[in-house]
Amino acid sequence: MKKLVAYFSPTGTTKHIAEIISQTAGADIFEIIPEIPYTSEDLEWTDKKSRSSMEMSDKKSRPAIKERISNMEEYGIIFLGFPIWWHIAPTIINTFLESYDFSGKTIVLFATSGGSGMGKALDYLKPSCDGSVKWEAGKVIRSTSDKAEIAAWIKEI
Ligand SMILES: Cc1cc2nc3c(=O)[nH]c(=O)nc-3n(C[C@H](O)[C@H](O)[C@H](O)COP(=O)(O)O)c2cc1C
Repeated sequence: MKKLVAYFSPTGTTKHIAEIISQTAGADIFEIIPEIPYTSEDLEWTDKKSRSSMEMSDKKSRPAIKERISNMEEYGIIFLGFPIWWHIAPTIINTFLESYDFSGKTIVLFATSGGSGMGKALDYLKPSCDGSVKWEAGKVIRSTSDKAEIAAWIKEI
C-alpha cells in the first residue's frame, strides 16, 4: 500500500516538515490548499473577528479545499500535517477527513506549533472519520528538526 503525506500550511512551517517526511518515508505528497487562501489578516489570532478566530470558534466550520486527490483508495497510511491553531487542528483538516473514505486506513498526525502540544486535536478529528480508522497519536515536530530526527520518529511508528 502506498503512503501519502497530506498537509495544510498557510505560512510554510508545516510544509517544510511535510517535505522531509515525504522524502524519508518514501511517500507521495499533497498540499491541502484552501479554496480561499488565508491572508495574514485571516491568521491574526489576536483579533477575535479574524477569519481563523471565527472558524475556530465554530467547530462546525468546514473551509473548502481547492483540489481533490483522485486515487485515495491506493493509500494505506496517511501522514496528516497541520499547524496547531488554538490547541487543535484547523477545521479545514475536518473538511479534508470528511472528503474521502478512510475506512481501514492508518492516519498519523503531525503538526508544528509555537510551543503547544497536540492538545485535543485527535478528539476533534476522530468524529470526522468512521470507527475503522487506525489513528496514530502523532507528534508536534519542532520546525528545526532535521532529517535524522524525523527518520527516527517514522521508524518508531
Ligand atoms: C490562528 C492561529 C492560532 C494558533 N494557535 C496556536 C496555539 O494554540 N498554540 C501554539 O503553540 N501555536 C499556535 N499558533 C502558531 C502556529 O501553530 C505555528 O506558527 C505553526 O508552526 C504555523 O505553521 P504553518 O507555517 O505551517 O502555517 C497559531 C497560529 C495561528 C495562525
